[in-house]
Amino acid sequence: MRYHVSILLPVLSVLTSAIVAAEIATTNLTAQHFPELGSRRVKTTYGSHVVQSRKENDGMSQFQSAIAPPCVDCTITFMQAGLEYLDGTTADATTNMWMHHVVLLNRGRKDSVCADMPAQRFFASGNERTAIDLTSTFSALGTQHLGYPVAENDTFVGSGELMNMLDTPQEVMLFMVWEFIPAPPIYFKPAVPFWLDVGGCGDSDVPAKPGKQFEYISPVLTASSHWDIAFIGGHLHDGGTHLDVIRNDEIVCTTEALYGTSGFATGHIARMQSCLNAGSTLPGDQFYIKAYYDTNAHTPMTTADNDTLEPVMGIALAYLVASETTSGSWFSRVMLIYVVLTAVVVTGLAGLYTARQRPDALNRLLEHFRGRQWQRVRTTDPETDGLDAEDGLLLHGQKQTKYPNI
Ligand SMILES: *[C@@H]1O[C@H](CO)[C@@H](O)[C@H](O)[C@H]1NC(C)=O
Ligand SMILES: *[C@@H]1O[C@H](CO)[C@@H](O)[C@H](O)[C@H]1NC(C)=O
Ligand SMILES: *[C@@H]1O[C@H](CO)[C@@H](O)[C@H](O)[C@H]1NC(C)=O
Repeated sequence: MRYHVSILLPVLSVLTSAIVAAEIATTNLTAQHFPELGSRRVKTTYGSHVVQSRKENDGMSQFQSAIAPPCVDCTITFMQAGLEYLDGTTADATTNMWMHHVVLLNRGRKDSVCADMPAQRFFASGNERTAIDLTSTFSALGTQHLGYPVAENDTFVGSGELMNMLDTPQEVMLFMVWEFIPAPPIYFKPAVPFWLDVGGCGDSDVPAKPGKQFEYISPVLTASSHWDIAFIGGHLHDGGTHLDVIRNDEIVCTTEALYGTSGFATGHIARMQSCLNAGSTLPGDQFYIKAYYDTNAHTPMTTADNDTLEPVMGIALAYLVASETTSGSWFSRVMLIYVVLTAVVVTGLAGLYTARQRPDALNRLLEHFRGRQWQRVRTTDPETDGLDAEDGLLLHGQKQTKYPNI
């Protein structure tokens, strides 16, 4: 009997149902990245939420609520989820309270991978509580400034499932730690979330298998553009060993599951590694993920009466940024200026040389410009105007005739 509720179901109801906004308390923390840009770090607490005992529905309790974005017309550079009791102490596997999974969606945007989804999946967390940290240096071209931008019409929904392993109910609150820049400088680029899932665009739940090694592979996502891969976080359930992100049959990121070693957390996933700088993509590159399980090495979750295995998942959430090498980028502009300047100087020097060696050639060239109705441009600086008229005109003319060909 499966009591487990998939990640997808709440997603599909996100647009159709009226979602009650959670009660929110916001606390200011000390910003850790870009304080010189007026960044802010806040903890927003949503709730509370009573999770029934393990004897009812295996202690599984779902929630869904509208949550206000931490800021508007801003960019988010860091986000992490957590659970706590009403007295502010931490609720986690060591206290038998599990964040089975939490997903945040943005109703102002379409999902980047599954176009039919009514909202964009931009954050996921499980017990491992992986932070999405977009502040790290990743590019071969130098530090990139990235964030997940929040537009004025964006609205967020939080959805997920909590699990209580005790025989008595527990009351907890979900919280998010956000760091954001209220007025980001223009050099902050938008990072776009891509959700890769062994369940494809359907249910994220896939069956667990007892006492063996097994793998699940996601459908292939074909890149349509140039991107740099800034960040990849992975999500597996107990029994999982690692997850690979594969581009054109080459592994670009491996995130390993690290298991707890003390108290109630022993034998359960406590942390998942994330990848920074997982390379770039070209149009046509094919991406998929592979989730590895070994249920001999790590005991998978079972229902409360031990008669069935809980389903498992394999998810990678990647944040991509439009690559520097596409048109209009900083790199191509610098190259363009370099090429133009070189061309101007070389043709200028060649022209000067010709003028000195063969004055008649210069006259023919001047006739040519006059014939095309080029005017000699006077500057307002008399010093400049006093310079050798022929040299100035020649350089000017060459420069002017060059532009339309670029
Ligand atoms: C938190 O910081 C913001 C911006 O600096 C300020 O407007 C707000 O009053 C602060 N809130 C509290 C509770 O200190
Ligand atoms: C939100 O605003 C952006 C930019 O102003 C626009 O592109 C987008 O379509 C809007 N989305 C919705 C759901 O209105
Ligand atoms: C399920 O298995 C665990 C460990 O194998 C055991 O401690 C627990 O009592 C079992 N529960 C039931 C209801 O059989």
